[in-house]
Amino acid sequence: MSEGSKLWGGRFTGANDPVMEKFNASIGFDRRMWEADIKGSQAYVRALGKVGLVTKDEMEEIYEGLGKVGIEWQNGTFQIQPSDEDIHTANERRLKELIGPAAGKLHTGRSRNDQCATDMRIWLREALRTLRGYLLDFIHVFLERAKRETDIIMPGYTHLQRAQPIRWSHWLLSHACALQRDAQRLDEMAVRVNELPLGSGALAGNPFNVDRQFLAKELGFGAVSLNSLDATSGRDFVVEFLFWASLTATHLSKWAEDLIIYSSKEFSFISLSDAYSTGSSLMPQKKNPDSLELIRGKAGRVFGHCSGFMMTLKGLPSTYNKDLQEDKEGMFDAYDTMTGVLLVATGVLSTLEVNKVAAKAALSPDMLATDIAYYLVRKGIPFREAHGMSGAAVHLAETKKCQLSDLTLADLQTISPKFTADVEKLWNYENSVEQYTAAGGTSGASVMHQIQTLDEWLAHMRNKSHTMKSRLEMDVTLN
Ligand code: ARG
Repeated sequence: MSEGSKLWGGRFTGANDPVMEKFNASIGFDRRMWEADIKGSQAYVRALGKVGLVTKDEMEEIYEGLGKVGIEWQNGTFQIQPSDEDIHTANERRLKELIGPAAGKLHTGRSRNDQCATDMRIWLREALRTLRGYLLDFIHVFLERAKRETDIIMPGYTHLQRAQPIRWSHWLLSHACALQRDAQRLDEMAVRVNELPLGSGALAGNPFNVDRQFLAKELGFGAVSLNSLDATSGRDFVVEFLFWASLTATHLSKWAEDLIIYSSKEFSFISLSDAYSTGSSLMPQKKNPDSLELIRGKAGRVFGHCSGFMMTLKGLPSTYNKDLQEDKEGMFDAYDTMTGVLLVATGVLSTLEVNKVAAKAALSPDMLATDIAYYLVRKGIPFREAHGMSGAAVHLAETKKCQLSDLTLADLQTISPKFTADVEKLWNYENSVEQYTAAGGTSGASVMHQIQTLDEWLAHMRNKSHTMKSRLEMDVTLN
């Protein structure tokens, strides 16, 4: 243990209990933010230069020294020391070793509180950009399949009971709609993440009037935070990310659950590619949807991070408290988990095969009972009455132990004289789905409209991502 080499060593005379030292350290996980930390410090030293707190030479020395520290991280040669409590102390310690006492000027007016919050926002911003790309790629697969497989008809379910015939594409697009909102939420959140805390000090602000607008521009932030107490200890941006991940994972879980059911022998609507399924060590006939089960399972893990971290925040007094160090592991793990989930989900969806015949075979004439009611409505009968008559037809088929479609015209006419020979047209599942032409329905035209709308939105999002990328990466380079 290297007493005295710690940033706050002056007041502390005794050595830490090694158990405490380990307990206190975040370097084991916050080292992931090394790049954000270097960039943040490089911007900060330039801001110090602007207000004359470092000379031009010192500024350059520090700036370049930080670049060298960054290269060590990049090459995997950075040596973490036991006294390196976190990424911020580690980088500064190494800078001092490389350039000497001038390194001591870097932290002027800055605190690990504003530094840490800044690093996390830089890191998360990049993470969001990556996840956004994965999410858009995933949505793209839904649209491509929906376009190609519009003619596939399957049962739609409520209460997991066969309800009405729908297009497979309509089912695909229902999930794409939920994911579209997730992508929108991500962009809305990204704006709030992209506010700069640097220049807020430990809590009260910066006494040297550093140019925070300059810092924001250097680091690609959209705005500077308004209040230093809030900026140094506010972690709602982390909670928002964890919530976003939880909700997105919940949507993916529902999608996975549908497919797990559809892939069972009893349904057989789809079969997963071998690349995303596994066999059983005991039962040779089995093909298990492990990929989908893991996607479903990970939702619980991600939501655990969200609820867990909110518990941590609840009851904290203003402003920074060490409890806040608990913000990082959940954030990193939620990112890693969502990366795996989205990439595997995309693979599953692009490679699964739909069994058109089995999907259609699962349809049965009783699913057309609503259509009988609609038929009578079109003949002028009020819906409530038509519904009752359709119920009577279902009952009659049950007593005659036949399918609804096997009832003769004479049978139907005992229920209502409005039934005529054209009732035959009802016993056709394509006709059934085609009647849902109002916006949002499962008819071919309505499905096409959904595809077009989402296609245009996706193209817009992809363009927007380029703008966002250039704005975010503005002037931010390692050297
Ligand atoms: N490692 C700390 C964290 O992650 C950095 C901030 C430390 N600030 C402090 N006042 N002890 O939260």
